Amino acid sequence: MSKSNKMKILAIESTAHTFGIAIIEDKKVLINLKRAYTTESGGIIPINAANYHMAHKDDLLEEVLNESNTKIEDIDLLAYSAGPGLSPCLRVGRDLVKELNEKHKIPFIEVNHCVAHLEITKVLTGAKDPVLLYASGANTQVIAFEGGKYRIFGETLDQGIGNFLDSFARYLGLGFPGGPKISDLADKSKNYIELPYSVKGMDISLTGMLTKLKQLNDSKKYKVEDLAYSLQETAFAMLLEVSERAMAHCDKKELALGGGVACNTRLKEMSKIMCKERGAKCFIPENQFLVDNAAMIGLTANLMHAGGHKINKSNPEIYPYQRTDQVIVDWE
Ligand code: ATP
Ligand code: FE2
Repeated sequence: MSKSNKMKILAIESTAHTFGIAIIEDKKVLINLKRAYTTESGGIIPINAANYHMAHKDDLLEEVLNESNTKIEDIDLLAYSAGPGLSPCLRVGRDLVKELNEKHKIPFIEVNHCVAHLEITKVLTGAKDPVLLYASGANTQVIAFEGGKYRIFGETLDQGIGNFLDSFARYLGLGFPGGPKISDLADKSKNYIELPYSVKGMDISLTGMLTKLKQLNDSKKYKVEDLAYSLQETAFAMLLEVSERAMAHCDKKELALGGGVACNTRLKEMSKIMCKERGAKCFIPENQFLVDNAAMIGLTANLMHAGGHKINKSNPEIYPYQRTDQVIVDWE
């Protein structure tokens, strides 16, 4: 334990485009910094993102320690995103943990990135038992805590909503991340063009809509602003239909948003309208905690540790394909 007798956690996020480091003291975020890999055009190339993380990790660690006036000896516990994610990127975070663990003998905790997106929403907004709409790059899931696990009530059958937005933006020649660029275009239109609305049971499918959008764009008969607007209206309505049905099914009165796509102002607005209509509450943390960030890893590690989850002494691992419902939640 550090001298102040408060638990200090140094947390690392490196599952995909973002390399982040945060320091958490109990439930307080002391510092939360990141470097995000972006492109002018084209999507994320895993090895390039990993090289970007390699190039930034040491400087970022130094900056985090300096700015928060912390010495590495003050850190009681390391935490990192162990999965799911892109293997080359995950390895950079894991290797930094391994280095600090071996050199300074600091124990560590492995955190599931998706669970962290969910836990931070609860920690920061005070939501007690929400249905979570987790809308990020690779993942799109409607999740609720039932019977000791985060269970997935509905999800995308093909691509994540963020990847879908990024793919269409890439097709239009816009860079990565595409979500904010599509959002800016959509804000300039109110002209709805019918697109395939694909909800299958509790799941959604986005590939058909992407193909249609590309065809409509290639026909040159439609303005990109109208396509972007119609895309958001259709895709977000699909997400909220499934979320609403999960709330009804589980009899839950709270909706929480997580993941980078939840930064979208229209998705936030539609979520609040849906909740108001069914007498439910909508919880949305600040944008910096919706996108990938290390604070969510540290806060989740804090909960896990406080709840009795085992901490590890050596050999940090990565789990690129770990699913939300495979995580044994022994800290709630
Ligand atoms: P995952 O959590 O599935 O591993 P990730 O790590 O790629 O995904 P996040 O940082 O949670 O993701 O989210 C990134 C995604 O959020 C990108 O696809 C990006 O385009 C999208 N995004 C960011 N801001 C907005 C916005 N304002 N509107 C829509 N999408 C957005
Ligand atoms: Fe994420």
